[in-house]
Amino acid sequence: MYNAIEINDIFQKKAIDDEWSFKESKPSERGKWTHSYHRYPAKFIPQIVEKLLDEYIDPNVTKASVNDPFFGCGTTIVSAISRGYEANGTDINRIAYLITRVKATPIEPSYLKKKVMDFLARINSQNTLLEQLDDIEPYIPEKHLERIDYWFEEKTKFQLGKILNVILNEKDEVIRDFFKVAFSHCLKNCSIWLMDSTKPTRDLKKKIPNPYDVLKRHLKKMVKGNNAFYNIISDKVKTNHSKLLNIKLSDARKQPAKNNSVDITITSSPYVTSYEYADLHQLSTIWLDLAESLSDYRKEFIGTAAKKYEDAKLGSEIAKEIVKELELNDKKLSRNVEAFYKDMQEVFEENYRILKPGGRCCYVIGNTRLKKVDILNAEVFAESLQNTGFVFDRLIKREIHSKLLPQLRDEKTGRFASNENADTIAYPVEYIVVGKKE
Ligand SMILES: C[S@@+](CC[C@H](N)C(=O)[O-])C[C@H]1O[C@@H](n2cnc3c(N)ncnc32)[C@H](O)[C@@H]1O
Repeated sequence: MYNAIEINDIFQKKAIDDEWSFKESKPSERGKWTHSYHRYPAKFIPQIVEKLLDEYIDPNVTKASVNDPFFGCGTTIVSAISRGYEANGTDINRIAYLITRVKATPIEPSYLKKKVMDFLARINSQNTLLEQLDDIEPYIPEKHLERIDYWFEEKTKFQLGKILNVILNEKDEVIRDFFKVAFSHCLKNCSIWLMDSTKPTRDLKKKIPNPYDVLKRHLKKMVKGNNAFYNIISDKVKTNHSKLLNIKLSDARKQPAKNNSVDITITSSPYVTSYEYADLHQLSTIWLDLAESLSDYRKEFIGTAAKKYEDAKLGSEIAKEIVKELELNDKKLSRNVEAFYKDMQEVFEENYRILKPGGRCCYVIGNTRLKKVDILNAEVFAESLQNTGFVFDRLIKREIHSKLLPQLRDEKTGRFASNENADTIAYPVEYIVVGKKE
């Protein structure tokens, strides 16, 4: 067991593991199969999951159980299903649950093709403009009308409402959910949400495309992805699919898996205060009517700025130090960071409960800087995993090459810097912290 000083030392000395950076992987490989169904902030690439599965699951075993307590848009879950493993896990985000269910469920290609053609014909019968289709009543969720009007032009609102009505009337649930994911993905393009921003920012000059065209293009891509996924899935997996896919809309501290039943957990946790998922997915939440109130919904998330505890009792010395330093600069933020580390401590306990002895728990996580304080998430996770009973088994350090531009680094401090102060080009890095249950 390493103490806080030793852990900091291991991280300081750690060199980049080039083979984990996947420099050469093309966007088409990162978005293969169903992986590009829906944009998702802070998703990781399937190559990381696949390499961890290659290294930790014996290729000769046919049965394995893979877990992700924060499955997001389902990268781990889809990779596990593609290999015929049982895939279980949780996410508190209702749109994540929908996306992952759809991405992990291959559909027979000719059936899907027909369903998509019928659907497109229905919303564009005789090439009539959507707003002129009088027989379709627009479905616009009344209670979210104010937010919808904030984000959508009047004309687009009615067009989307008509499309949604047709989707909701689809009888086959699997197909209905498939269309919902396509619809949800297209909402950003069809709204005045600034395209380059993940954060809710309006672009009042944005030229809004026709929702039919956007949806048609995206459905074509999804159909192609489904067919590729369907073709690599074995028949045995297709027939046992409902037994293999065991995901829940739930808090990460309540896993569906039984004690000592999981071979490996592969996950990336939320980041403290950087992504408010409840806000980032609000277009989908309001249109698909996924939450009564955004402010209550926000509180369910780990890492949110809406949370603090009176008596957090952190186990990690590194975490305590970060909270103490931050308190001097921003008291409220220090409470949020403390709440994040406390919640994560409880997630690690749940990870430990479900893993088999000998099983691994792999956290993909990056560090950050808030109010001039280094927020050493990865170091805290390594220490907290140990406090929960895990052995800190391995550390992987990778460069994130999917980012469009490398950042600039200040030579002296090693930190990312603004362009004029920087002298070294560097890619952002992240860690994979691996705990082993002995
Ligand atoms: C970094 S993302 C995971 C991305 C995922 N690895 C992927 O490839 O899509 C973190 C996820 O944690 C989820 N989350 C936040 N609080 C949670 C909680 N209390 N329980 C379960 N999931 C939660 C968020 O909804 C988000 O999907």
